Amino acid sequence: MPVGSSSAVSPSKSARGCAGGERSRRPNLKRDKMPPVCAAALLAVLLTAAQSARPDVAAEGVSAPLIDEGLASAWRTLRAVDCARCHGKDYDGLAAPSIVRYARTQTREMFVRMVLDGDPPRGMPGYRSNPRIAENIDDVYRYFVGRADGTIDSGSRPRSP
Ligand code: HEC
Repeated sequence: MPVGSSSAVSPSKSARGCAGGERSRRPNLKRDKMPPVCAAALLAVLLTAAQSARPDVAAEGVSAPLIDEGLASAWRTLRAVDCARCHGKDYDGLAAPSIVRYARTQTREMFVRMVLDGDPPRGMPGYRSNPRIAENIDDVYRYFVGRADGTIDSGSRPRSP
């Protein structure tokens, strides 16, 4: 291959250059141009890491607030009862399965029955005697249907606490 045709440094070659893969296969005239490319790649990695280390901050920035008072109240109730300690901070599964997926795949009837009656032998408490849940069950269901169909995202929260 003529030397001239290999002078264009493709992104993939640059990336391999960063990792040292092309080391001294031939004297590389472009070597002195590698550092900026490597620096840019490294910066991209660092930025990505910085963002993913603060997912809540990123999510809050793009999530619409819960303006609907019923949904806002459901959100507060779920926080107060702390379904998240078993179901995960976004209710999408931890020790217990995802509530969001359940709302997506099961009927309203099944959902309401599961939340009110629970499944005590398997570790799901029943919330029928908890008025915050029992009296807000429609809005609780509506909240999870919204999460399931994407109209509410995990970062959405009420404007006021
Ligand atoms: C103490 C832990 C715990 C808490 C707190 C808890 N759950 Fe559960 N939940 C479970 C477990 C364990 C299961 C799985 C039960 C089973 O396998 O039948 C479950 C199952 C469910 C299911 C059915 C999911 C499925 O795929 O079978 C729903 C819906 C649900 N929980 C909603 C809630 C809601 C809403 C709250 C808060 C009001 C809540 N849970 C609080 C432990 C908990």
